Amino acid sequence: MENLILTESDIRQRIWMELQRATQDRHHDWRTPMLATVGRDGTPNARTVVLRHADAKLARLDFYTDSRSPKVAELAVQPQVTLVFWSKRLSWQLRVRAYVSLQTTGPEVDAVWARLSQSAAAGDYLSATAPGDALPLDQAACCAQASTHNLAIMTAQVQEIDWLELARSGHRRAVLGTTGFAWRVP
Ligand SMILES: Cc1cc2nc3c(=O)[nH]c(=O)nc-3n(C[C@H](O)[C@H](O)[C@H](O)COP(=O)(O)O)c2cc1C
Repeated sequence: MENLILTESDIRQRIWMELQRATQDRHHDWRTPMLATVGRDGTPNARTVVLRHADAKLARLDFYTDSRSPKVAELAVQPQVTLVFWSKRLSWQLRVRAYVSLQTTGPEVDAVWARLSQSAAAGDYLSATAPGDALPLDQAACCAQASTHNLAIMTAQVQEIDWLELARSGHRRAVLGTTGFAWRVP
Protein backbone atom coordinates (compact mmCIF):
# COMPACT_ATOMS: atom_id res chain seq x y z
CA MET A 1 0.00 0.00 0.00
CA GLU A 2 1.37 3.45 -0.89
CA ASN A 3 1.56 6.00 1.88
CA LEU A 4 -1.49 8.24 2.05
CA ILE A 5 -1.64 11.22 4.32
CA LEU A 6 -3.33 9.67 7.31
CA THR A 7 -4.01 11.66 10.44
CA GLU A 8 -4.12 10.17 13.91
CA SER A 9 -7.90 10.13 13.83
CA ASP A 10 -7.97 8.55 10.32
CA ILE A 11 -5.76 5.70 11.55
CA ARG A 12 -7.80 5.14 14.70
CA GLN A 13 -11.09 5.17 12.77
CA ARG A 14 -9.79 2.92 10.01
CA ILE A 15 -8.42 0.38 12.50
CA TRP A 16 -11.77 0.05 14.27
CA MET A 17 -13.70 0.03 10.99
CA GLU A 18 -11.56 -2.86 9.75
CA LEU A 19 -11.88 -4.71 13.06
CA GLN A 20 -15.66 -4.39 12.85
CA ARG A 21 -15.59 -5.59 9.22
CA ALA A 22 -13.55 -8.61 10.29
CA THR A 23 -16.36 -9.74 12.61
CA GLN A 24 -18.72 -9.89 9.60
CA ASP A 25 -16.38 -11.00 6.83
CA ARG A 26 -15.06 -14.57 7.06
CA HIS A 27 -12.31 -13.73 4.57
CA HIS A 28 -10.98 -10.67 6.37
CA ASP A 29 -7.39 -11.28 7.52
CA TRP A 30 -8.16 -9.75 10.89
CA ARG A 31 -10.90 -12.29 11.62
CA THR A 32 -8.36 -14.74 13.05
CA PRO A 33 -5.77 -12.96 15.17
CA MET A 34 -3.18 -14.61 17.38
CA LEU A 35 -3.96 -14.38 21.09
CA ALA A 36 -0.82 -14.49 23.24
CA THR A 37 -1.05 -15.18 26.96
CA VAL A 38 1.33 -15.98 29.79
CA GLY A 39 1.27 -19.73 30.45
CA ARG A 40 0.78 -21.20 33.91
CA ASP A 41 4.54 -21.95 33.96
CA GLY A 42 5.37 -18.32 33.10
CA THR A 43 6.32 -19.01 29.48
CA PRO A 44 4.54 -17.44 26.48
CA ASN A 45 1.58 -19.20 24.89
CA ALA A 46 -0.28 -18.27 21.71
CA ARG A 47 -3.14 -19.54 19.58
CA THR A 48 -5.51 -18.46 16.82
CA VAL A 49 -8.97 -17.22 17.81
CA VAL A 50 -11.94 -15.81 15.88
CA LEU A 51 -12.81 -12.15 16.43
CA ARG A 52 -16.55 -12.05 17.19
CA HIS A 53 -17.30 -8.47 18.13
CA ALA A 54 -15.48 -5.11 18.03
CA ASP A 55 -16.75 -2.04 19.84
CA ALA A 56 -14.82 1.12 18.95
CA LYS A 57 -16.51 3.31 21.57
CA LEU A 58 -15.75 0.95 24.44
CA ALA A 59 -12.43 -0.24 22.93
CA ARG A 60 -13.57 -3.84 23.41
CA LEU A 61 -12.91 -6.98 21.39
CA ASP A 62 -14.90 -10.17 22.07
CA PHE A 63 -13.94 -13.80 21.45
CA TYR A 64 -15.64 -17.08 22.33
CA THR A 65 -14.04 -20.11 23.88
CA ASP A 66 -14.67 -23.25 25.92
CA SER A 67 -14.53 -22.26 29.60
CA ARG A 68 -12.54 -25.44 30.33
CA SER A 69 -9.77 -24.63 27.86
CA PRO A 70 -6.24 -24.09 29.25
CA LYS A 71 -6.20 -20.46 28.10
CA VAL A 72 -9.10 -19.67 30.46
CA ALA A 73 -7.10 -20.96 33.43
CA GLU A 74 -4.13 -18.87 32.24
CA LEU A 75 -6.27 -15.74 31.94
CA ALA A 76 -7.69 -16.22 35.42
CA VAL A 77 -4.12 -15.91 36.76
CA GLN A 78 -2.76 -13.33 34.27
CA PRO A 79 -5.38 -11.38 32.29
CA GLN A 80 -2.82 -9.27 30.40
CA VAL A 81 -2.66 -10.41 26.75
CA THR A 82 -1.34 -9.36 23.37
CA LEU A 83 -3.38 -9.87 20.20
CA VAL A 84 -1.58 -9.82 16.85
CA PHE A 85 -3.45 -9.04 13.63
CA TRP A 86 -1.85 -8.98 10.15
CA SER A 87 -3.62 -7.94 6.97
CA LYS A 88 -1.86 -8.47 3.67
CA ARG A 89 -4.49 -6.35 1.89
CA LEU A 90 -3.93 -3.40 4.20
CA SER A 91 -0.23 -4.14 4.80
CA TRP A 92 -1.09 -3.39 8.40
CA GLN A 93 -0.05 -5.22 11.56
CA LEU A 94 -1.71 -4.50 14.91
CA ARG A 95 -0.24 -5.53 18.22
CA VAL A 96 -3.00 -4.97 20.73
CA ARG A 97 -2.26 -4.96 24.45
CA ALA A 98 -5.37 -5.69 26.47
CA TYR A 99 -6.82 -7.05 29.69
CA VAL A 100 -9.21 -9.96 29.25
CA SER A 101 -12.26 -10.55 31.41
CA LEU A 102 -14.29 -13.75 31.20
CA GLN A 103 -18.02 -14.35 31.35
CA THR A 104 -19.47 -17.83 31.63
CA THR A 105 -22.96 -16.87 32.84
CA GLY A 106 -25.27 -13.88 32.53
CA PRO A 107 -27.39 -12.18 29.90
CA GLU A 108 -24.57 -11.68 27.34
CA VAL A 109 -23.61 -15.36 27.47
CA ASP A 110 -27.29 -16.37 27.26
CA ALA A 111 -27.82 -14.13 24.21
CA VAL A 112 -24.74 -15.51 22.42
CA TRP A 113 -25.68 -19.11 23.28
CA ALA A 114 -29.23 -18.59 21.99
CA ARG A 115 -27.67 -17.82 18.60
CA LEU A 116 -24.75 -20.29 18.69
CA SER A 117 -26.88 -23.21 19.81
CA GLN A 118 -28.71 -23.04 16.46
CA SER A 119 -25.45 -23.19 14.50
CA ALA A 120 -23.04 -25.95 13.50
CA ALA A 121 -20.54 -24.56 16.06
CA ALA A 122 -22.78 -25.53 19.00
CA GLY A 123 -21.02 -28.90 19.36
CA ASP A 124 -17.73 -27.10 20.09
CA TYR A 125 -19.18 -25.95 23.41
CA LEU A 126 -21.08 -29.10 24.31
CA SER A 127 -18.41 -31.78 24.30
CA ALA A 128 -18.22 -33.98 27.39
CA THR A 129 -14.42 -33.79 27.29
CA ALA A 130 -12.45 -30.57 27.76
CA PRO A 131 -10.09 -29.07 25.16
CA GLY A 132 -6.56 -30.30 25.79
CA ASP A 133 -7.68 -33.44 27.67
CA ALA A 134 -6.07 -36.71 26.72
CA LEU A 135 -8.15 -38.27 23.93
CA PRO A 136 -10.27 -41.02 25.54
CA LEU A 137 -9.69 -44.49 24.17
CA ASP A 138 -13.44 -44.97 24.35
CA GLN A 139 -14.70 -43.27 21.18
CA ALA A 140 -18.20 -42.90 22.63
CA ALA A 141 -16.85 -40.95 25.62
CA CYS A 142 -14.81 -38.81 23.23
CA CYS A 143 -17.76 -37.65 21.21
CA ALA A 144 -20.48 -37.55 23.84
CA GLN A 145 -22.27 -34.25 24.26
CA ALA A 146 -23.06 -32.69 27.62
CA SER A 147 -26.47 -31.18 28.22
CA THR A 148 -25.06 -27.84 29.34
CA HIS A 149 -22.75 -25.65 27.32
CA ASN A 150 -19.23 -24.47 28.26
CA LEU A 151 -19.30 -21.23 26.34
CA ALA A 152 -17.19 -18.39 27.72
CA ILE A 153 -16.98 -14.88 26.30
CA MET A 154 -13.48 -13.43 26.49
CA THR A 155 -13.62 -9.65 26.41
CA ALA A 156 -10.38 -7.85 25.68
CA GLN A 157 -10.34 -4.29 27.02
CA VAL A 158 -7.86 -2.58 24.73
CA GLN A 159 -5.14 -0.54 26.44
CA GLU A 160 -2.83 0.19 23.53
CA ILE A 161 -2.52 -0.56 19.82
CA ASP A 162 0.89 -0.71 18.14
CA TRP A 163 0.12 -0.06 14.45
CA LEU A 164 2.67 -0.88 11.75
CA GLU A 165 2.20 -0.15 8.07
CA LEU A 166 4.55 -1.70 5.54
CA ALA A 167 4.99 0.33 2.34
CA ARG A 168 7.62 0.58 -0.39
CA SER A 169 7.65 4.32 0.07
CA GLY A 170 8.48 3.87 3.77
CA HIS A 171 7.12 1.93 6.70
CA ARG A 172 5.18 3.77 9.38
CA ARG A 173 4.48 2.93 12.97
CA ALA A 174 2.46 4.56 15.72
CA VAL A 175 1.24 3.70 19.18
CA LEU A 176 -2.39 4.49 19.95
CA GLY A 177 -3.26 4.61 23.63
CA THR A 178 -6.77 4.97 24.98
CA THR A 179 -6.40 8.73 24.48
CA GLY A 180 -2.83 9.44 23.29
CA PHE A 181 -1.07 8.87 19.97
CA ALA A 182 2.66 8.79 19.18
CA TRP A 183 4.56 8.15 15.94
CA ARG A 184 7.34 5.61 16.37
CA VAL A 185 10.33 4.47 14.33
CA PRO A 186 9.07 1.39 12.45
C1 LIG B 1 -8.70 -20.72 12.37
C2 LIG B 1 -8.82 -21.07 13.84
C3 LIG B 1 -9.76 -20.41 14.60
C4 LIG B 1 -9.89 -20.72 15.97
N1 LIG B 1 -10.81 -20.04 16.72
C5 LIG B 1 -10.89 -20.28 18.04
C6 LIG B 1 -11.76 -19.51 18.85
O1 LIG B 1 -12.47 -18.59 18.42
N2 LIG B 1 -11.80 -19.80 20.20
C7 LIG B 1 -11.03 -20.79 20.74
O2 LIG B 1 -11.11 -20.98 21.95
N3 LIG B 1 -10.21 -21.53 19.99
C8 LIG B 1 -10.11 -21.30 18.67
N4 LIG B 1 -9.25 -22.04 17.89
C9 LIG B 1 -8.46 -23.11 18.51
C10 LIG B 1 -7.28 -22.49 19.28
O3 LIG B 1 -6.33 -21.98 18.36
C11 LIG B 1 -6.64 -23.46 20.26
O4 LIG B 1 -6.13 -24.57 19.57
C12 LIG B 1 -7.63 -23.94 21.31
O5 LIG B 1 -8.50 -22.89 21.71
C13 LIG B 1 -6.89 -24.45 22.55
O6 LIG B 1 -6.11 -23.41 23.06
P1 LIG B 1 -5.57 -23.42 24.56
O7 LIG B 1 -5.06 -24.82 24.80
O8 LIG B 1 -4.47 -22.40 24.58
O9 LIG B 1 -6.72 -23.05 25.47
C14 LIG B 1 -9.08 -21.72 16.54
C15 LIG B 1 -8.13 -22.37 15.76
C16 LIG B 1 -8.00 -22.04 14.43
C17 LIG B 1 -6.96 -22.76 13.60
